[in-house]
Amino acid sequence: EKGGHDYFMLKEIEEQPEALANTLRGHFSGGVVLDEQRLSEQDLRDVNKVFVVACGTAYHAGLLAKYAIEHWCRVPVEVELASEFRYRDPVLGRDTLVVAISQSGETADTLEAVRHARTQHARVLAISNTNGSQIPRESDAVLYTHAGPEIGVAATKTFLAQIAASYLVGLALAQARGTKYPDEIEHDFGELEAMPEAVRSTLSVVEQTRGLAERLCSAKAVLFLGRHVGYPVALEGALKLKELAYMHAEGFAAGELKHGPIALIENDLPVVVTMPSLKGHPQLHAKLVSNIREIQARGAHTVVITEEGDDAVRPFADELIEVPVVPTLLQPLVTTVPLQVLAAEVARNRGFDVDKPRNLAKSVTVE
Ligand code: F6R
Repeated sequence: EKGGHDYFMLKEIEEQPEALANTLRGHFSGGVVLDEQRLSEQDLRDVNKVFVVACGTAYHAGLLAKYAIEHWCRVPVEVELASEFRYRDPVLGRDTLVVAISQSGETADTLEAVRHARTQHARVLAISNTNGSQIPRESDAVLYTHAGPEIGVAATKTFLAQIAASYLVGLALAQARGTKYPDEIEHDFGELEAMPEAVRSTLSVVEQTRGLAERLCSAKAVLFLGRHVGYPVALEGALKLKELAYMHAEGFAAGELKHGPIALIENDLPVVVTMPSLKGHPQLHAKLVSNIREIQARGAHTVVITEEGDDAVRPFADELIEVPVVPTLLQPLVTTVPLQVLAAEVARNRGFDVDKPRNLAKSVTVE
């Protein structure tokens, strides 16, 4: 049942192309269509503020949603940990859209954030992998991810599906608000539809990442760096390594290095960097190359995840993992894959149960 693997998580990592395809299926018919839609086009047009609330990995999907929604819809987006959101009296009203992302649909903090938003008359849209779960039931609209059941406690395929679903919400909003032309929406949806294939070809990094995991498994700590959409990916890479391999891991925005974290760099400390697209963000790319040079000069063992053919960063990468070239906003769908494999394989090397990390539950129904 583990599809020939030692643990479910690897099977679920390999199911990601299918999870993405299933999540996108049926959502384009002359325009983007959502699932249970109890919000009118007018409601969507009136939205003047978006909050995304979620926990853990789903929160990282929310951080990515912000890049897409602000860019496409020209509406301000705030992303907040559900456990913080409802205790700080956020400014909400009828024109606020709260997007609650929860794989299980039962996470207590996210559910309470939804309830709070509704008492303030905000519109709530849920993104969930579980049909009929509590969060979708209490929301005005639902977009289901169709990743299938996830057995591993650590979220993998549901994360990629959450990213795709939040981008669909972004396109639906852009469509309603007229910030994108219909042919642009169709084009962007087409780019999303090409992602299952790109993720499938990314799976070829599994073997290489296994070797890397063997070399990293006795490190004292691992740092993760990224910029723009690479930043939430860094946070996700660090979370996965913490929860599965019980290693100290931190994700940073690369631009913050100089403001403190660079003091952590010492000889042989592994630093995993996800590079921005060379074509999409040449200036950011150059900045990251200079960050990498800086940390390598201070002795860090640099592990660089970048697109195929990125020769500019090669000289500064002690380890190089190549992923397919895809549009900038979609990069996290491919760059996350090696980080998931890395965490799982470091955990396996250290002798831990990859599917059932200690102290963690798949569905967190207490606050
Ligand atoms: C990490 C992980 C958790 C969940 C979080 C939210 O691998 O799985 O951080 O993402 O507990 O869960 P849901 O999405 O069910 O609300």
